[in-house]
Amino acid sequence: MNSVVRDISIERQVSAGAFRGAMRQLTGGVSVITAGRGRDISGMTVTSVSSLSVEPATLIVSINREASSWPLVKRYGFFGVNILTSDQIDIAERFTGKGGLKGAERFAGAEWITRASGAPLLAGALAAIDCEVEDIVERHSHAIVIGRVLDLQLSTRTAALAYWQGQYVAIDRDEDAVRLAEVSVPGPRAVPSPRAAR
Ligand SMILES: Cc1cc2nc3c(=O)[nH]c(=O)nc-3n(C[C@H](O)[C@H](O)[C@H](O)COP(=O)(O)O)c2cc1C
Repeated sequence: MNSVVRDISIERQVSAGAFRGAMRQLTGGVSVITAGRGRDISGMTVTSVSSLSVEPATLIVSINREASSWPLVKRYGFFGVNILTSDQIDIAERFTGKGGLKGAERFAGAEWITRASGAPLLAGALAAIDCEVEDIVERHSHAIVIGRVLDLQLSTRTAALAYWQGQYVAIDRDEDAVRLAEVSVPGPRAVPSPRAAR
């Protein structure tokens, strides 16, 4: 495994506030990471999941090392990635720890299954992905976790949940595709026909 850590040669010129402001402009897909077994479980809402490679199937997620899920990911060596649908905002909220919910309490009110790894997977997720930890890079406040995909379950739903400028945003493929087609493709509804123009 190659790893190159370079010394940073230019002093930091950007404030934390400015950087946060820039990152607020980045639209992220909302997922819930889960880890642990039985009652020794926890999870957290994240937007930092992204694909690493297709062959082999791997993904990465950045996890704050202060988060309650972090020791479970490290100890068990497995985790679940649950990509949320647009109507699962309540689940996203529970997994931020809102209202003081901790560990197994966050899982109440939704259906969970397990596959090979034993990590909880959300039955109604847009995609539920079972992962084994392949590598961990602990850097600054966070750990970059590389997950090797063991198994997955896909939903037939077409409405995803995103997060942008501090707010949840629903993306509905059917509705938004129609809207996009109207503005980007000059079709019958966007350009009046010669007869309609008369
Ligand atoms: C939309 C959204 C995205 C988040 N993305 C991340 C993330 O990618 N990585 C991370 O460490 N925390 C992320 N968080 C914060 C965690 O959800 C939150 O700190 C964690 O669930 C609470 O930690 P606890 O389990 O220690 O209570 C995000 C929060 C929200 C609301």
